[in-house]
Amino acid sequence: MIKLAARMRETITFHAVEVFKDALALRNQGHDVISLSVGEPDFTAAPLVVEAANRATRAGLGGYTAPAGLWALREAIAKFYGTHLGANINPARVIVTNGASGALSLAAMAVVNPGDEVLMGDPCYPPNRNFISSAGGTTRLIPTSADNRFQLSAADIDANWGSQTKGALIASPSNPTGTSLTVEALSALIQAVNGRDGFVMMDEIYLALSFDSTARSALTLDDNLIVLNSFSKYFAMTGWRLGWMIVPEQLVDPIEKLAASLVICAPTLSQHAALACFEPESLALYDSRRLELKRRRDFLVPALKKMGIDVPVMPDGAFYVYADISQHSSDSMSFAKHLLANAHIACVPGVDFGPTHAASMVRIAYTNSMEKLEEAVHRLSKYLA
Ligand SMILES: Cc1ncc(COP(=O)(O)O)c(C=O)c1O
Repeated sequence: MIKLAARMRETITFHAVEVFKDALALRNQGHDVISLSVGEPDFTAAPLVVEAANRATRAGLGGYTAPAGLWALREAIAKFYGTHLGANINPARVIVTNGASGALSLAAMAVVNPGDEVLMGDPCYPPNRNFISSAGGTTRLIPTSADNRFQLSAADIDANWGSQTKGALIASPSNPTGTSLTVEALSALIQAVNGRDGFVMMDEIYLALSFDSTARSALTLDDNLIVLNSFSKYFAMTGWRLGWMIVPEQLVDPIEKLAASLVICAPTLSQHAALACFEPESLALYDSRRLELKRRRDFLVPALKKMGIDVPVMPDGAFYVYADISQHSSDSMSFAKHLLANAHIACVPGVDFGPTHAASMVRIAYTNSMEKLEEAVHRLSKYLA
């Protein structure tokens, strides 16, 4: 009998998967299930990206790349940060990874020691805790509230930094809330961590999907951050498994060394294809999708509120609404299950994102067409009535 490693006890499971499986079963029975649960865009890769992938495949460009990725892609990412996200960075600080997941894994392996503690806001993206525990560290989830846009604050850092704490992991905009830190709050938070000689891991996977087009990278506030990003969301390439990290110079060689043995390189064909993400035609398409997501938010949030489902903080990016169902149920898990069974709408119960708001909140992803969203609102209001 093979014994599982102790860390497997720490590995948290995704309850969303349960809802997802139930939704699949219903769909297989022929029901029209509207999925508002999955955290991936309903858009696909841009046409130029698909063409570039085909060209690279035909040209036989499927061999390994350098562990940090194709230099041309690192340059293109650095340029994108300059033109779109306000930060001028040296391409040598960009490391191409297997999605933001690969970046989170490398970042945790590179800076977390066994016994180290990392602070995160509750709610947060559930797998974050698994990245830290796989490096031997532990996560301290700090309850957040609507007052701080469900984000960690500098005061939280002050109050919760302990003898084993080494850093904080922040996402802005965040999953499951779609809310960002204000520049002032983020700046204060970074200063609070820097004052303790800690690290900030900054997940900017939804940054380009900010509805305020003046949103800027945290690197504009401090160059010494570990920034994570991805082709999954803004560029709609979830399954292409491609992301990147931007790290301080001193971390480039160690992380490249780690990547060389852990993954060798990120998928090569995806890297060649991703170069086409930065063509003006592709960028124009992504921006029109961003505006489409904003339109969906502007439809969905007031509609939910009308039905007594509060949205305590208006999301300002990504494609999630963190919604309060407590007027209708005291248990978000059974709310989600009943909603699926009776109205054929899938959403994610709050329990996945941390204990603080587990019972009262659900995450609704508006990764579906306007038509489907209208249908979902119609079904939801009938169901709640
Ligand atoms: C906040 C956040 N970070 C990281 C990821 C990982 O994304 P990927 O590995 O597809 O880039 C996700 C995916 O949903 C996410 O929501």
